[in-house]
This record gives sequence, structure tokens and C-alpha cells, in this order.
Amino acid sequence: MQLLQTLAELNDWRREQVGRPLHFVPTMGSLHQGHQQLLQRACAAVPAGRPAVLLSVFVNPLQFGPAEDFDRYPRDLAADAALGEAAGAEALFAPSVQELFPGGEAQLTGVVPPAALRQSLCGPGRPGHFEGVATVVCRLLALVRPDRLLLGEKDWQQLMILRRVVADLALPLTVQGCATVREVDGLACSSRHRYLRASERDQAAALPAALGAAQALWREGIASAALLSASVRRDLEAAGLAVEYVQLVQPSTLSPVTTADGGLVLLAAAARCGSTRLIDHLFLMNR
Ligand code: PAJ
Repeated sequence: MQLLQTLAELNDWRREQVGRPLHFVPTMGSLHQGHQQLLQRACAAVPAGRPAVLLSVFVNPLQFGPAEDFDRYPRDLAADAALGEAAGAEALFAPSVQELFPGGEAQLTGVVPPAALRQSLCGPGRPGHFEGVATVVCRLLALVRPDRLLLGEKDWQQLMILRRVVADLALPLTVQGCATVREVDGLACSSRHRYLRASERDQAAALPAALGAAQALWREGIASAALLSASVRRDLEAAGLAVEYVQLVQPSTLSPVTTADGGLVLLAAAARCGSTRLIDHLFLMNR
């Protein structure tokens, strides 16, 4: 696997791929089984031939708030390169902040996704976050020019926002969403789990469990968003997690719903376990 650290190296590699489909998996590194699955999906052959798969690792300062964990975000490029290569990536683009934003972060042209997609779920608690994600991903897409962008469903709101940005800017690529990969106890894999102490790691499993318990209530006939979210909130608090939000929304517009008895509904929650922020969701379907 080739390591590309400058825009010039990326351009040279990109030129060598002309004629092959190019599949791109952007990440912030500290790779785990969720990222591994995205890479494996990216490697699958398409009618146009065997794709070239590019992995990027870039801890994007634009998407972290001033009180968030940019400085302590786990970084281990050697381990990421090993996992990326084993999962089939042909090249790893890992630029410095200076290399990706040569004019400085403050001077950068920003990409602002529609407010309606930022008003619910993680948006209110993380002002500027989705602008930062959309801005860096658009810059990466402009540099890489992939045919396909692979993103995880774990970050459902990010997936919906980036799908919309790609459509609105008429970028010539396909966005492929990949199912959430979970640990054996149901906790969705996340780079931030490296922050968790052993006791916190056990507590964290309360998040998927609380969503699952609400889904069971829904299957028994409870459709009120207020009752379902109260159930999740109660279970999270009982486990010692600090709830940030519990919401029921329409899965593609992300607008809040008051009942879950017509059409597909997304039940999503964010909570803190110690200082670690966890998010998860499930779909209410097939009652
Ligand atoms: P990061 O958190 O590193 O995630 C990179 C990709 O892996 C995202 O598409 C994310 O949804 C996916 N992913 C993470 N955990 C997953 C899991 N358990 N199962 C399936 N997919 C999972 O998301 C980002 O980085 C950044 O915001 C980025 C898009 C790279 C822009 O900076």
C-alpha cells in the first residue's frame, strides 16, 4: 500500500488510476472493524472493473468544537496503515493540516449543509460540526475525484447530510452507505471507545440496550415519541450515562415525529459515558 502525504503525491497516484473505478473511504483514523467493513465493501468489484481503493486518515480540526477532543483524538498512523492494507486499500492519503489547508483553516471556503438537516439530533449540541464535516469532505472529494464514496450508517445524520451535499453540488459520484458494525454486546464500534475505562466500557452497552428496549415497547404497540424517548432516557440515566438527546425523526429529512405509527422512524440517542460521547440509533420497522 502506498502512503501519500502530500497533494503532489496524491495527484501522481490519482493519475496512475485513470481508467479504473476509484472508491474512497475517508476517516479520522484510529481504525476499527467499522472502518474495515467500509474498506472491504469498497474493494468489491463493480461492472466497470476492479476498483482502486483509497483510504484517507485526517483528524479534521474544522469539525471539532473548542471544548471537544481534537487534541486528544487517538492517532496511530502505523496501525491504521496496517489495518488499511489488510482490508485491501491500495493507498492511504494522510496529509497534515497544513498540507490539506495550505491557506489556513480560517480562510477556507466553507460548505454549509441545509439548516433543516442540522437542527435535530447532533446538530444543536455540536454547532459548526456538520459544516466542518461537509467542508473537509468536499475538499477531499475535489482532490480525490472518486467514483464512489463509502460512508457508515453509524453516523446516520452525517450520511444524510453528505448525500444531500453531493446531490446539491451535483458531484459526479455515488454515495454508498454501509451498515453499523457492533461489538458482541451491541455497542457500535467507535474510535472514541479507546477513551473508555473498563467499567465505562460495560456501562456504554446500556446505549444500544436502551434503544432495543424502546423498540420492544414499540412492538408491543406504544407509538408515542414522548413515551418511547422517556423510556430510553430512563434506562440511560439508570445506567449512569448523561443523556444529550433522545429523538424520533423521519430518517431522511431528520425532522422530529410525534408518533411512530406511520412509515419508517429513526430512534436516535447521544449520551456521555464519563467524558466520552456515544451515539447510536435504530429503525422502528416491521411491527
Ligand atoms: P470517522 O469517525 O473516522 O468515520 C469514518 C467512517 O467510518 C464514517 O463514514 C463512519 O460513519 C464510519 N464508521 C465509523 N464507525 C462505524 C461503525 N461502527 N460501523 C460502520 N461504519 C462506521 O466520520 C468521520 O470519521 C469524519 O466525520 C469524516 C467523514 C472522515 C470527515 O472528517
